[in-house]
Amino acid sequence: MEVYLDNAATTKPRKEVVEAMVYAMEELYANPSSLHRKGVEVEKSIKNTRKLIAKALGCKDQEFYFTSGGTESNNIAIRGIVEANHRFGKHIITSKIEHPSVLNTFNDLEAKGYGVTYLEVNHEGFISVDELRNAMKEDTILVAIMHVNNEVGSIQPIDEIGKIIKGKNPKTLFHVDAIQSFGKIKFNVANTLVDTLAISGHKLHGPKGIGGLYVRKGLKIRPMVTGGGHEMGLRAGTENVPGILGLGAAVKHQMAQQEEIISKMITLKKYLVERIQEEVKEVVIHNGMEADFAPHIINVSFIGVKSEVLLHSLEGDGIYVSSGSACSSKKKGFSHVLTAMKLKNTLIDSSLRLSISDTNTKEEIDYGVNQIKKQVELLRKIMR
Ligand SMILES: Cc1ncc(COP(=O)(O)O)c(C=O)c1O
Repeated sequence: MEVYLDNAATTKPRKEVVEAMVYAMEELYANPSSLHRKGVEVEKSIKNTRKLIAKALGCKDQEFYFTSGGTESNNIAIRGIVEANHRFGKHIITSKIEHPSVLNTFNDLEAKGYGVTYLEVNHEGFISVDELRNAMKEDTILVAIMHVNNEVGSIQPIDEIGKIIKGKNPKTLFHVDAIQSFGKIKFNVANTLVDTLAISGHKLHGPKGIGGLYVRKGLKIRPMVTGGGHEMGLRAGTENVPGILGLGAAVKHQMAQQEEIISKMITLKKYLVERIQEEVKEVVIHNGMEADFAPHIINVSFIGVKSEVLLHSLEGDGIYVSSGSACSSKKKGFSHVLTAMKLKNTLIDSSLRLSISDTNTKEEIDYGVNQIKKQVELLRKIMR
Protein backbone atom coordinates (compact mmCIF):
# COMPACT_ATOMS: atom_id res chain seq x y z
CA MET A 1 0.00 0.00 0.00
CA GLU A 2 1.23 3.52 -0.78
CA VAL A 3 0.26 6.19 1.73
CA TYR A 4 1.19 9.78 0.90
CA LEU A 5 1.15 11.88 4.06
CA ASP A 6 3.32 14.75 2.82
CA ASN A 7 0.60 17.03 1.41
CA ALA A 8 2.05 20.18 3.00
CA ALA A 9 5.17 19.63 0.89
CA THR A 10 3.18 19.13 -2.27
CA THR A 11 0.01 17.43 -3.49
CA LYS A 12 -0.79 15.11 -6.38
CA PRO A 13 -2.44 17.04 -9.24
CA ARG A 14 -6.12 16.15 -9.60
CA LYS A 15 -7.30 14.40 -12.78
CA GLU A 16 -9.07 17.53 -14.07
CA VAL A 17 -5.85 19.51 -13.49
CA VAL A 18 -3.86 17.12 -15.69
CA GLU A 19 -6.62 17.20 -18.33
CA ALA A 20 -6.71 21.01 -18.34
CA MET A 21 -2.92 21.12 -18.76
CA VAL A 22 -2.90 18.58 -21.59
CA TYR A 23 -5.67 20.55 -23.31
CA ALA A 24 -3.66 23.75 -22.91
CA MET A 25 -0.55 22.14 -24.41
CA GLU A 26 -2.36 20.47 -27.30
CA GLU A 27 -4.85 23.19 -28.20
CA LEU A 28 -4.01 26.49 -26.52
CA TYR A 29 -0.40 26.67 -27.68
CA ALA A 30 -0.56 30.10 -29.35
CA ASN A 31 1.04 33.08 -27.64
CA PRO A 32 -1.62 34.97 -25.68
CA SER A 33 -0.01 38.24 -26.81
CA SER A 34 -0.49 37.38 -30.50
CA LEU A 35 -3.09 39.42 -32.32
CA HIS A 36 -4.60 36.55 -34.31
CA ARG A 37 -7.67 34.53 -33.33
CA LYS A 38 -5.65 31.65 -31.88
CA GLY A 39 -3.76 34.00 -29.59
CA VAL A 40 -6.91 35.81 -28.53
CA GLU A 41 -8.49 32.47 -27.62
CA VAL A 42 -5.58 31.75 -25.22
CA GLU A 43 -5.74 35.26 -23.79
CA LYS A 44 -9.43 34.69 -23.09
CA SER A 45 -8.75 31.45 -21.24
CA ILE A 46 -6.19 33.25 -19.02
CA LYS A 47 -8.71 36.05 -18.40
CA ASN A 48 -11.38 33.53 -17.37
CA THR A 49 -8.97 31.74 -15.03
CA ARG A 50 -7.91 35.04 -13.46
CA LYS A 51 -11.60 35.81 -12.86
CA LEU A 52 -12.17 32.40 -11.25
CA ILE A 53 -9.21 32.74 -8.87
CA ALA A 54 -10.01 36.37 -8.04
CA LYS A 55 -13.53 35.26 -7.10
CA ALA A 56 -12.11 32.51 -4.88
CA LEU A 57 -9.90 35.06 -3.11
CA GLY A 58 -12.61 37.69 -2.91
CA CYS A 59 -10.77 40.33 -4.96
CA LYS A 60 -11.15 42.10 -8.29
CA ASP A 61 -9.73 40.44 -11.43
CA GLN A 62 -7.16 43.25 -11.86
CA GLU A 63 -5.88 42.62 -8.35
CA PHE A 64 -4.65 39.08 -9.10
CA TYR A 65 -1.35 38.32 -10.86
CA PHE A 66 0.01 34.94 -11.98
CA THR A 67 3.56 34.09 -10.87
CA SER A 68 5.81 31.03 -10.90
CA GLY A 69 4.71 30.00 -7.39
CA GLY A 70 4.76 30.87 -3.73
CA THR A 71 8.46 31.72 -3.49
CA GLU A 72 8.25 34.23 -6.32
CA SER A 73 5.00 35.74 -5.03
CA ASN A 74 6.57 36.33 -1.60
CA ASN A 75 9.67 37.86 -3.22
CA ILE A 76 7.71 40.14 -5.57
CA ALA A 77 5.54 41.42 -2.72
CA ILE A 78 8.29 41.95 -0.13
CA ARG A 79 11.02 43.30 -2.39
CA GLY A 80 8.54 45.21 -4.55
CA ILE A 81 6.94 46.96 -1.58
CA VAL A 82 10.27 47.78 0.04
CA GLU A 83 11.74 49.16 -3.19
CA ALA A 84 8.68 51.29 -3.89
CA ASN A 85 8.47 52.63 -0.31
CA HIS A 86 12.05 52.93 0.96
CA ARG A 87 11.75 56.73 1.00
CA PHE A 88 9.10 56.47 3.73
CA GLY A 89 11.06 54.22 6.07
CA LYS A 90 13.64 51.50 6.56
CA HIS A 91 11.97 49.29 9.17
CA ILE A 92 10.26 46.00 8.33
CA ILE A 93 8.69 43.30 10.51
CA THR A 94 8.19 39.56 10.11
CA SER A 95 8.01 36.49 12.36
CA LYS A 96 10.67 33.91 13.23
CA ILE A 97 8.60 31.06 11.77
CA GLU A 98 8.11 32.25 8.20
CA HIS A 99 8.92 30.06 5.22
CA PRO A 100 12.51 30.53 3.93
CA SER A 101 11.12 32.41 0.90
CA VAL A 102 10.13 35.17 3.32
CA LEU A 103 12.82 34.79 6.01
CA ASN A 104 15.75 34.74 3.58
CA THR A 105 14.30 37.71 1.71
CA PHE A 106 14.15 39.64 5.01
CA ASN A 107 17.73 38.49 5.82
CA ASP A 108 18.83 39.85 2.46
CA LEU A 109 17.08 43.18 3.04
CA GLU A 110 18.66 43.34 6.52
CA ALA A 111 22.09 42.89 4.90
CA LYS A 112 21.21 45.79 2.59
CA GLY A 113 20.63 48.09 5.57
CA TYR A 114 16.96 47.69 6.51
CA GLY A 115 16.10 47.36 10.19
CA VAL A 116 14.25 44.09 10.73
CA THR A 117 12.19 42.96 13.72
CA TYR A 118 11.71 39.19 13.84
CA LEU A 119 8.71 38.52 16.09
CA GLU A 120 8.91 35.65 18.59
CA VAL A 121 6.28 32.90 18.75
CA ASN A 122 4.91 30.99 21.75
CA HIS A 123 5.30 27.22 22.31
CA GLU A 124 2.37 26.55 19.93
CA GLY A 125 3.67 28.72 17.08
CA PHE A 126 1.60 31.90 17.51
CA ILE A 127 2.94 35.45 17.41
CA SER A 128 1.95 37.88 20.15
CA VAL A 129 -0.17 40.73 18.82
CA ASP A 130 1.08 42.89 21.71
CA GLU A 131 4.67 42.31 20.62
CA LEU A 132 3.68 43.31 17.09
CA ARG A 133 1.92 46.46 18.36
CA ASN A 134 5.02 47.44 20.34
CA ALA A 135 7.37 46.67 17.44
CA MET A 136 5.54 48.98 15.02
CA LYS A 137 7.39 52.26 14.45
CA GLU A 138 6.67 55.41 12.50
CA ASP A 139 9.04 54.26 9.76
CA THR A 140 7.72 50.67 9.52
CA ILE A 141 6.90 50.20 5.85
CA LEU A 142 6.04 46.48 5.77
CA VAL A 143 4.82 43.66 8.00
CA ALA A 144 4.86 40.13 6.56
CA ILE A 145 3.12 37.41 8.58
CA MET A 146 2.18 33.99 7.25
CA HIS A 147 -1.40 32.75 7.53
CA VAL A 148 -0.75 29.03 8.20
CA ASN A 149 2.64 27.76 9.26
CA ASN A 150 3.84 24.93 7.03
CA GLU A 151 5.49 22.89 9.83
CA VAL A 152 3.03 23.10 12.71
CA GLY A 153 -0.17 24.46 11.13
CA SER A 154 -0.73 27.39 13.52
CA ILE A 155 -3.14 29.92 11.98
CA GLN A 156 -2.17 33.53 12.71
CA PRO A 157 -5.13 35.91 13.27
CA ILE A 158 -4.66 37.95 10.09
CA ASP A 159 -7.83 40.00 10.62
CA GLU A 160 -6.67 41.17 14.05
CA ILE A 161 -3.08 41.65 12.84
CA GLY A 162 -4.31 43.83 9.96
CA LYS A 163 -6.29 46.01 12.36
CA ILE A 164 -3.30 46.44 14.67
CA ILE A 165 -0.98 47.38 11.79
CA LYS A 166 -3.34 49.90 10.22
CA GLY A 167 -4.37 51.24 13.63
CA LYS A 168 -0.75 52.03 14.45
CA ASN A 169 0.22 53.28 11.01
CA PRO A 170 -2.21 53.27 8.05
CA LYS A 171 0.73 53.61 5.64
CA THR A 172 2.41 50.34 6.73
CA LEU A 173 1.71 47.58 4.22
CA PHE A 174 0.68 44.06 5.24
CA HIS A 175 1.82 40.98 3.27
CA VAL A 176 0.43 37.51 3.96
CA ASP A 177 1.89 34.18 2.82
CA ALA A 178 -1.34 32.19 2.36
CA ILE A 179 0.31 29.30 0.56
CA GLN A 180 -0.72 26.68 3.14
CA SER A 181 -4.15 28.18 3.76
CA PHE A 182 -5.66 29.05 0.39
CA GLY A 183 -8.55 26.65 -0.30
CA LYS A 184 -8.20 24.97 3.10
CA ILE A 185 -9.26 27.84 5.33
CA LYS A 186 -12.06 30.15 4.34
CA PHE A 187 -11.15 33.80 3.93
CA ASN A 188 -12.00 36.70 1.70
CA VAL A 189 -9.28 39.31 1.13
CA ALA A 190 -11.85 42.07 0.65
CA ASN A 191 -12.88 41.60 4.29
CA THR A 192 -9.32 41.92 5.61
CA LEU A 193 -6.75 44.71 5.77
CA VAL A 194 -4.23 42.63 3.82
CA ASP A 195 -2.40 44.49 1.05
CA THR A 196 -0.66 41.60 -0.73
CA LEU A 197 -1.21 37.83 -0.42
CA ALA A 198 0.69 34.92 -1.95
CA ILE A 199 -0.70 31.57 -3.13
CA SER A 200 0.81 28.51 -4.82
CA GLY A 201 -0.72 25.90 -7.13
CA HIS A 202 0.96 22.72 -5.97
CA LYS A 203 -0.34 22.86 -2.39
CA LEU A 204 -3.93 22.37 -3.50
CA HIS A 205 -3.61 19.60 -6.09
CA GLY A 206 -2.61 22.00 -8.85
CA PRO A 207 0.63 22.08 -10.86
CA LYS A 208 4.08 23.06 -9.60
CA GLY A 209 5.69 26.23 -10.94
CA ILE A 210 2.52 28.31 -10.88
CA GLY A 211 1.09 30.57 -8.22
CA GLY A 212 -0.24 34.01 -7.76
CA LEU A 213 -0.21 37.26 -5.91
CA TYR A 214 -3.08 39.43 -4.78
CA VAL A 215 -2.14 43.12 -4.81
CA ARG A 216 -4.68 45.57 -3.45
CA LYS A 217 -5.84 48.02 -6.12
CA GLY A 218 -3.78 51.20 -6.27
CA LEU A 219 -0.80 49.75 -4.41
CA LYS A 220 2.62 50.54 -5.88
CA ILE A 221 4.99 47.58 -6.30
CA ARG A 222 8.29 47.72 -8.20
CA PRO A 223 8.45 44.79 -10.66
CA MET A 224 11.38 42.40 -10.22
CA VAL A 225 11.28 41.05 -13.76
CA THR A 226 10.88 43.64 -16.49
CA GLY A 227 10.10 42.92 -20.10
CA GLY A 228 7.07 42.88 -22.34
CA GLY A 229 4.56 44.21 -19.83
CA HIS A 230 2.83 40.90 -19.11
CA GLU A 231 0.71 40.52 -15.96
CA MET A 232 -0.25 44.19 -16.04
CA GLY A 233 3.43 45.16 -15.91
CA LEU A 234 4.18 43.42 -12.61
CA ARG A 235 5.80 40.27 -13.96
CA ALA A 236 7.08 40.06 -17.51
CA GLY A 237 7.40 36.82 -19.47
CA THR A 238 5.15 34.80 -21.77
CA GLU A 239 2.46 33.24 -19.60
CA ASN A 240 2.67 29.63 -18.36
CA VAL A 241 -0.64 28.74 -20.00
CA PRO A 242 -0.76 25.02 -19.00
CA GLY A 243 0.15 26.02 -15.42
CA ILE A 244 -2.49 28.75 -15.33
CA LEU A 245 -5.22 26.45 -16.65
CA GLY A 246 -4.13 23.66 -14.30
CA LEU A 247 -4.25 26.07 -11.35
CA GLY A 248 -7.70 27.18 -12.51
CA ALA A 249 -8.95 23.57 -12.54
CA ALA A 250 -7.52 22.95 -9.05
CA VAL A 251 -9.09 26.11 -7.59
CA LYS A 252 -12.43 25.35 -9.29
CA HIS A 253 -12.52 21.91 -7.66
CA GLN A 254 -11.36 23.18 -4.27
CA MET A 255 -13.95 25.97 -4.15
CA ALA A 256 -16.84 23.85 -5.43
CA GLN A 257 -16.18 21.21 -2.76
CA GLN A 258 -14.58 23.32 -0.05
CA GLU A 259 -16.97 22.37 2.76
CA GLU A 260 -16.58 18.63 2.12
CA ILE A 261 -12.80 18.90 1.64
CA ILE A 262 -12.26 20.78 4.90
CA SER A 263 -14.60 18.55 6.86
CA LYS A 264 -12.92 15.40 5.51
CA MET A 265 -9.47 16.72 6.41
CA ILE A 266 -10.59 17.60 9.94
CA THR A 267 -12.09 14.12 10.40
CA LEU A 268 -8.94 12.42 9.09
CA LYS A 269 -6.64 14.62 11.19
CA LYS A 270 -8.64 13.87 14.34
CA TYR A 271 -8.63 10.16 13.54
CA LEU A 272 -4.88 10.14 12.85
CA VAL A 273 -4.08 11.96 16.11
CA GLU A 274 -6.35 9.65 18.14
CA ARG A 275 -4.93 6.49 16.56
CA ILE A 276 -1.34 7.63 17.21
CA GLN A 277 -2.16 8.47 20.83
CA GLU A 278 -3.88 5.09 21.31
CA GLU A 279 -1.25 2.97 19.60
CA VAL A 280 2.14 4.56 20.20
CA LYS A 281 3.72 5.24 23.58
CA GLU A 282 5.76 8.35 24.43
CA VAL A 283 4.51 10.71 21.79
CA VAL A 284 4.16 14.48 21.96
CA ILE A 285 1.76 16.15 19.55
CA HIS A 286 2.86 19.73 18.90
CA ASN A 287 -0.36 21.11 17.46
CA GLY A 288 -3.98 21.00 18.43
CA MET A 289 -7.36 20.15 16.98
CA GLU A 290 -8.76 23.61 17.77
CA ALA A 291 -9.95 26.04 15.11
CA ASP A 292 -6.69 27.99 15.25
CA PHE A 293 -4.76 25.07 13.72
CA ALA A 294 -4.92 24.11 10.04
CA PRO A 295 -6.95 21.01 9.12
CA HIS A 296 -4.13 19.24 7.28
CA ILE A 297 -0.94 19.40 9.39
CA ILE A 298 0.13 17.22 12.32
CA ASN A 299 3.52 17.64 13.96
CA VAL A 300 4.46 14.88 16.36
CA SER A 301 7.58 13.74 18.21
CA PHE A 302 8.19 10.03 18.78
CA ILE A 303 10.52 10.33 21.76
CA GLY A 304 13.87 8.60 21.38
CA VAL A 305 13.52 8.06 17.61
CA LYS A 306 15.41 10.27 15.18
CA SER A 307 12.86 11.60 12.69
CA GLU A 308 15.09 11.11 9.66
CA VAL A 309 15.65 7.45 10.50
CA LEU A 310 11.91 6.92 11.02
CA LEU A 311 11.15 8.75 7.77
CA HIS A 312 13.33 6.34 5.80
CA SER A 313 11.99 3.26 7.64
CA LEU A 314 8.44 4.32 6.77
CA GLU A 315 9.43 4.96 3.17
CA GLY A 316 10.31 1.25 3.03
CA ASP A 317 6.67 0.53 3.96
CA GLY A 318 5.35 2.88 1.25
CA ILE A 319 4.54 5.70 3.68
CA TYR A 320 5.75 9.18 2.78
CA VAL A 321 6.14 11.86 5.47
CA SER A 322 8.44 14.80 6.30
CA SER A 323 10.87 15.56 9.06
CA GLY A 324 10.48 19.28 9.71
CA SER A 325 9.63 21.16 6.54
CA ALA A 326 10.23 19.52 3.17
CA CYS A 327 11.11 22.89 1.62
CA SER A 328 14.20 23.08 3.78
CA SER A 329 14.57 19.53 5.08
CA LYS A 330 17.64 18.87 2.93
CA LYS A 331 19.45 21.49 4.98
CA LYS A 332 21.23 20.24 8.04
CA GLY A 333 20.34 21.71 11.41
CA PHE A 334 17.22 21.99 13.51
CA SER A 335 13.93 23.30 12.22
CA HIS A 336 13.83 27.10 12.71
CA VAL A 337 10.11 26.85 13.50
CA LEU A 338 10.38 24.28 16.31
CA THR A 339 13.46 26.13 17.62
CA ALA A 340 11.49 29.40 17.71
CA MET A 341 8.76 27.52 19.63
CA LYS A 342 11.51 26.71 22.17
CA LEU A 343 11.02 22.95 22.02
CA LYS A 344 13.72 20.81 23.61
CA ASN A 345 16.31 19.52 21.12
CA THR A 346 15.25 15.92 21.82
CA LEU A 347 11.70 16.77 20.73
CA ILE A 348 12.84 18.63 17.64
CA ASP A 349 15.16 15.81 16.64
CA SER A 350 12.31 13.30 16.82
CA SER A 351 9.60 15.42 15.19
CA LEU A 352 7.75 14.21 12.14
CA ARG A 353 5.29 16.20 10.03
CA LEU A 354 2.32 14.22 8.73
CA SER A 355 0.14 16.21 6.35
CA ILE A 356 -3.12 15.01 4.92
CA SER A 357 -5.42 15.76 2.02
CA ASP A 358 -9.05 14.96 1.32
CA THR A 359 -7.72 12.29 -1.06
CA ASN A 360 -6.40 10.22 1.89
CA THR A 361 -8.61 7.48 3.37
CA LYS A 362 -9.25 5.99 6.82
CA GLU A 363 -7.71 2.72 5.59
CA GLU A 364 -4.53 4.57 4.69
CA ILE A 365 -4.42 6.14 8.15
CA ASP A 366 -4.92 2.69 9.76
CA TYR A 367 -2.09 1.20 7.72
CA GLY A 368 0.10 4.27 8.36
CA VAL A 369 -0.38 4.17 12.14
CA ASN A 370 0.23 0.39 12.31
CA GLN A 371 3.52 0.78 10.46
CA ILE A 372 4.53 3.83 12.52
CA LYS A 373 3.91 1.80 15.69
CA LYS A 374 6.00 -1.13 14.40
CA GLN A 375 8.87 1.03 13.19
CA VAL A 376 8.94 3.22 16.33
CA GLU A 377 9.05 0.14 18.60
CA LEU A 378 11.78 -1.47 16.50
CA LEU A 379 13.90 1.70 16.34
CA ARG A 380 13.53 2.33 20.06
CA LYS A 381 14.85 -1.17 20.76
CA ILE A 382 17.85 -0.57 18.51
CA MET A 383 18.54 3.00 19.66
CA ARG A 384 18.15 2.52 23.43
C1 LIG B 1 4.24 28.57 3.80
C2 LIG B 1 4.95 28.42 2.48
N1 LIG B 1 5.37 29.52 1.83
C3 LIG B 1 6.00 29.43 0.65
C4 LIG B 1 6.25 28.21 0.04
C5 LIG B 1 6.93 28.18 -1.29
O1 LIG B 1 5.99 27.92 -2.32
P1 LIG B 1 6.48 27.37 -3.74
O2 LIG B 1 6.92 25.95 -3.52
O3 LIG B 1 5.27 27.46 -4.63
O4 LIG B 1 7.57 28.25 -4.20
C6 LIG B 1 5.86 27.04 0.71
C7 LIG B 1 6.21 25.72 0.15
O5 LIG B 1 6.43 24.77 0.87
C8 LIG B 1 5.17 27.14 1.95
O6 LIG B 1 4.76 26.06 2.61
